Amino acid sequence: MVWPHGFDDLRAAAKRRLPRFLFDYVDGGSFAELVLARNVAAVRAVTLRQRVLNDVSQTDLSTRLFGQGLAMPLMLAPIGMGGMLRKRGEIQAVRAAQASGVPMVMSTVALCSVDEVMAAAGMPFWFQLYVAKDRGFVMDLLAHVQALGCPVLCVTVDLPMPGPRWRDQRSGLSGPPGLIGQWRRWSQVAAHPRWALDVGLGGRPHMLGNLAPIMTGHVRLNDFLSWSGRNFDPSVTWQDLAVIRSRWDGPLVIKGIMDPDDARRAADIGVDGLVVSNHGGRQLDGTVSTAEALPAIAQAVGDRLTVLADGGVRNGLDVLRMLALGAKGVMIGRAWAYALAAGGQAGVSRMLAQFAIELRAGLAFTGCDGIGDVGPHILARPPVG
Ligand SMILES: Cc1cc2nc3c(=O)[nH]c(=O)nc-3n(C[C@H](O)[C@H](O)[C@H](O)COP(=O)(O)O)c2cc1C
Repeated sequence: MVWPHGFDDLRAAAKRRLPRFLFDYVDGGSFAELVLARNVAAVRAVTLRQRVLNDVSQTDLSTRLFGQGLAMPLMLAPIGMGGMLRKRGEIQAVRAAQASGVPMVMSTVALCSVDEVMAAAGMPFWFQLYVAKDRGFVMDLLAHVQALGCPVLCVTVDLPMPGPRWRDQRSGLSGPPGLIGQWRRWSQVAAHPRWALDVGLGGRPHMLGNLAPIMTGHVRLNDFLSWSGRNFDPSVTWQDLAVIRSRWDGPLVIKGIMDPDDARRAADIGVDGLVVSNHGGRQLDGTVSTAEALPAIAQAVGDRLTVLADGGVRNGLDVLRMLALGAKGVMIGRAWAYALAAGGQAGVSRMLAQFAIELRAGLAFTGCDGIGDVGPHILARPPVG
């Protein structure tokens, strides 16, 4: 196989490999998918200043976030059901991330449990929490990941309920009900035998390891979204976040902030970081893009906590753009999901290597020696908003 070279190639390879309902699950957004497109367009619209005749022979991509050294300022964003993309997909991804010196944020709704990932990876990963209605379960889970040694907790706050994702209904992930939906999924699986052998037969596709204590009965894949709608808590407030803050000893990051007022409130509660994120355009459609929201948020709280960002980042130069807009680190979602689907652990490793090449080149062309040099001064135009 000719190795795919960029995001579009990885996406195309993932599309060939995955049953349509899974590809659409990753690829899609909510409502009319406007923000999904806007995230990408806004990152690409960020223009940089080309600077010359600086000695950039020793560009240094490394950085420190929350006391941890990173080979580059990049993290694999939490992706629910990532294990559906390749057999034991989360384990493959976390191994690739660790080998590349960047953190992976393990989703609450990963297929593999945190114990399984920890046993396989041998090194701690960051953990992402969705707050379930059963708070006893939530606190037990927190204590468990803390005992496992997960260094950073990332609480996702932009999912009081799942956004309406019509693509998932059309392609069969969450609809139509009954035999028609089942037939739709089975025919897609049958048309993708490599996936069927690897994940459908070789993996355990119906297992969401971390939720086992509260998933009573057999929750099938197509019921999962409605299950999460019933079991994740839309009544979560800042008070709950304060409780989590008091229970979690290590760095606490909240993910899904799009407004400077919310960012200030998070800083007041004492979180250590936030992720400017609209869930990759999967929740509120009609909001601004993350690249548009980022500068004002970094301005509002950048001196009080660590501002991270995600959404629409498709290559290493996009990482540089987000850093120039004020982020100290950048999460990537669909890029690693497609790389995993296309090439497993090796696919994620190669994608990360490519991001590093592009980021290093971007630093050199903008006259930066290292990540610490990046700032708004490398922007050709001041950020809007
Ligand atoms: C298939 C898929 C599943 C996701 N699952 C989660 C999740 O379980 N928890 C979470 O906090 N965010 C989740 N997200 C959002 C990502 O963490 C991230 O915010 C988003 O993908 C960034 O945008 P990008 O895909 O354009 O890079 C998911 C995104 C996708 C595409």
